[in-house]
Amino acid sequence: MDGVSFTAGKGVTMLMGPNGSGKTTTLSIVAGALAPTKGRVLVCDYEVWGSGWEKARECIGFAPQNMPFRERLTLLENLIWYGLIRGIGFRESKRRALELLETVGLREHYKKKVAQISGGMRRRLTIAAALIGDPEVLILDEPTSGLDPSARRVLWNLIRDIARDKTVIASTHIAEDAEENADKVLIFHKGKIVASGEPELLIRQYAPEAVIVVEGALKGSFEIEGAKLLKSSQKELRYSTRDPDHVLPLIIEKLLSQGSKIEKVEVRKPGLAEVYLELTGVELSEV
Ligand SMILES: Nc1ncnc2c1ncn2[C@@H]1O[C@H](COP(=O)(O)OP(=O)(O)O)[C@@H](O)[C@H]1O
Ligand SMILES: [Mg+2]
Repeated sequence: MDGVSFTAGKGVTMLMGPNGSGKTTTLSIVAGALAPTKGRVLVCDYEVWGSGWEKARECIGFAPQNMPFRERLTLLENLIWYGLIRGIGFRESKRRALELLETVGLREHYKKKVAQISGGMRRRLTIAAALIGDPEVLILDEPTSGLDPSARRVLWNLIRDIARDKTVIASTHIAEDAEENADKVLIFHKGKIVASGEPELLIRQYAPEAVIVVEGALKGSFEIEGAKLLKSSQKELRYSTRDPDHVLPLIIEKLLSQGSKIEKVEVRKPGLAEVYLELTGVELSEV
């Protein structure tokens, strides 16, 4: 594997990129589920693909995108089953399973069969299953895929809570999710990491310009210091600027003094979607 090198510590490290960019491949290699063609992976100071593999894997909890469950068994039974697979005895597996069901907000549903639960509940159960061995490193492949924005937010909050004392490595193809929940982002494009760092720093470095959009019955455009005119018509004006808080009042003042009628003002602050576009030349959502 070329072009993929990173370190992850406590908190959420997020692999962000479109489908086919190499997120699952990378997570599977780190988790010990897929052999790399070359390179090394160290987890908890042990080589995942070397002599320390058993120790390394004890340290890892891995939730693939579609975690296999026994559909006709209950949530509790499924977690106990994952505990047994990990070599934890029955009593301890059951104790941990109940505790984790509480952690992920599924305690009252423990008797339900997996086949009967919603997509959001399945996602929570997946996280509980990955946590059954109390791993130091939790690896989650697209843990919120298929969920609506509010369900995603709830789940990311849970994941961030867990990441307060664990290393969480997760993936997403949604820029907002990475921006709001990652301590560190790794931007994936065509199987390589093209940039990495804190979301805010990446935005400041690669996409510092906000866009101001004004709509209404407008009398014409004008020069504004610190801003670039992107579009001008009688209905819409668009400026880009690094300092929208300073520039916006100047634009409004000028428009009002012209006698323009303002119907709508919008400031589009740049985010990781704009960073991705700047780095790759393609829209993250359109790949
Ligand atoms: N660094 C890489 N080198 C070679 N092939 C890669 C690399 N990363 C991904 N691939 C290939 O690209 C395809 C899609 O990768 P995948 O990891 O499933 O992407 P994602 O999870 O981001 O959608 C796979 O067939 C994989 O073998
Ligand atoms: Mg994937």
